[in-house]
Amino acid sequence: MPDQDALKRAAADKALELVRDGMLVGLGSGSTARFFTEGVGRLVARGMKVRGVPTSRATAELAAANGIPIVTELLGPIDLSVDGADEVDPSLNLIKGRGGALFREKVIAAASRRFVVVVDASKAVPKLGVGVLPIEVLPFLWRSTAVRLASLGTSLTVRGGEEAPYITDNGNLILDLRIEGGISDAPALAQAIRGTIGVVEHGLFIGLTDTCIVAGPDGPEVLGKPSAGPIQQPRPS
Ligand code: A5P
Repeated sequence: MPDQDALKRAAADKALELVRDGMLVGLGSGSTARFFTEGVGRLVARGMKVRGVPTSRATAELAAANGIPIVTELLGPIDLSVDGADEVDPSLNLIKGRGGALFREKVIAAASRRFVVVVDASKAVPKLGVGVLPIEVLPFLWRSTAVRLASLGTSLTVRGGEEAPYITDNGNLILDLRIEGGISDAPALAQAIRGTIGVVEHGLFIGLTDTCIVAGPDGPEVLGKPSAGPIQQPRPS
């Protein structure tokens, strides 16, 4: 039985087959996306012309360390983005943001012609909400935002605790919303959260995933919307 890191690497390696010369590529955050970014670095080292759009400061540093040219201002669509996820449901809706980078991750996913999610099989769930749903909020009025959001779940905590809260790349806080029994209506919950004053973004990614590569003991399985098409084989080098 392969260990979890081997599965994460297998999913990321499968996604690398989608990278083509000249592409602008969104680079995700987290331990699975890391394998993808390192792989893109290897492609660049072999002469492929690829530019990266990082979803976090940590990924920007990783990309730079791997020799990937970075785009700091987005002027058009991204050809392909590859990112991890915390939970994936059968409709390929996601919870993301337990690494704290959900805002830019969502912007980049939405700006991508093809958004590919790479996960090990432990992330596949029948219903979202097994773990917490991260919500990025403005520090300025976070307590009143928290009071409003708390009614949407069973418990709400500020990440890192009130004494030393976790601060996002954007200078905001993360509130982790727990919903016992899972999320029954993710679109309705997403709308309610977005309508709450002080919310910057939340970790529900609904209808954004084109392809999901799930690596289990039998190898990577490719799931996706029919419009995304099958994964193409790499061009001969
Ligand atoms: C970062 O904010 C997250 O959305 C990550 O993509 C997610 O937490 C998955 O990370 P791992 O691949 O490390 O599980």
